[in-house]
This record gives sequence, structure tokens and C-alpha cells, in this order.
Amino acid sequence: MSADAGKREAARSALQFVEEGSIIGVGTGSTVNHFIDLLASEGPRIKAAVSSSEASTERLEGHGIEVMELNASGDLDLYVDGADESNRLLQLIKGGGGALTREKIIAGASRRFVCIADRSKLVRALGEFPLPVEVIPMARSFVARQLKELGGIPNWRENFITDNGNQIIDVSGLTIAEPIKLEDTINAIPGVVTVGLFARRGADVLLLGGEDGVERID
Ligand code: 5RP
Repeated sequence: MSADAGKREAARSALQFVEEGSIIGVGTGSTVNHFIDLLASEGPRIKAAVSSSEASTERLEGHGIEVMELNASGDLDLYVDGADESNRLLQLIKGGGGALTREKIIAGASRRFVCIADRSKLVRALGEFPLPVEVIPMARSFVARQLKELGGIPNWRENFITDNGNQIIDVSGLTIAEPIKLEDTINAIPGVVTVGLFARRGADVLLLGGEDGVERID
């Protein structure tokens, strides 16, 4: 089975969490794109979605699904999003698609975060995938130096601007033995908007699509 087929099966499995007439949070990425398409074609009819990116908004609206501002929706019962890596504690690295800030906001505002991914995203220890950090543009070099002091190798994601008008530094070479501690440390660097470590607020359910079907980890 291809990784993409695994993503699609995980996305299909997430439909069971969607309640008819509800407002749900929707993440960003290729796995979520499957979720949006499947929601439109075979899922329950929702009232509206709160979207984590311009790309997902466009896709949702293309299917005729109303997109609502988080300021208008209030807290949500469900958020569905993908991940770049997850450990067995459901702590995640996210932001490969650059939507980490809005994703973290919606995850924080949601009572249940269902993460969908193909099997390859489950890792023993986080950190093989370069950790995305969204930064205020004027702070980029300063933040990069701070990240070097933490033992990372910062790499500016050139020619990429987030939906919030900021830049991304992808950090490789970090040993992420204590994800919550590292999340707090990086968040505290002036100029950092969001670090793509979702450890304080990880997922509640992980659905992993692979050869043997969809594995659920709670
Ligand atoms: C976007 C994300 C995505 O969830 C993550 O990059 C996974 O993407 P994909 O579903 O394409 O593998 O965090 O900012």
C-alpha cells in the first residue's frame, strides 16, 4: 500500500468522529485533503468548518462547505489534522505544510484532536523530521542563532511565507528527549510565533493507515 493510500484510509476512518450538523476544525496537508474530499462525498453533513489555512479553506469552499472564523464558532468538539511525526504519547511534529500556527490555535480550542496519518509517521522519538518554527521576519537570524545554541541546524525555508505573513525555519539535528520542555524553550525565544512541536497539546486519538488497515492509538 502506498503512503497516500494509507493517508486516505486514515482520513476515511476519521469520518466516524464527525457529528451531523456540527462545526469542526480542519487542518492542512495532503492527508487532510483526503479528509475534506471524503467528508464532502461520503461524510455526515456538517454545519461549518473552522479552517487552519487558506489552502484548506479553498478546498472546503470548493466542496460547498461553509468556513467559519474561530472567533465566531467558539470552542470546537473536534479537530482533524495530519502530522509529520507522532510518538506513542501522541506528541507531534507539525508544520511541514507551514500552517502550524493556526493549527496549534485550533487544536488548543478543540476538545478532541483526531490526528490522521500514514503508518510511516509513527516514530520512537521525535526529531528526524526537521522541526518547523514560524518566526517574525525581522527575528529570523536571531532566532536561528538561538536554535543553534540548542544544538539544532536551522534552515530557512526560502520563498515561503505563511498565511500570517511570517517565515519558517526548519531545524534538524535536534534530540527531542523532552518534547514539552523543548516546546516551552523554543516558544520563549523572542520572535518565535509558534514551534511545530505539539507536545503540551498533542493529539487525543491517532489514526494510522497502513497495510493492515487503520490502527487507532488513544
Ligand atoms: C501542515 C501540517 C501537516 O499536517 C503535516 O505537514 C502533514 O502533512 P501531510 O498530511 O501532507 O503528510 O502540519 O502544516
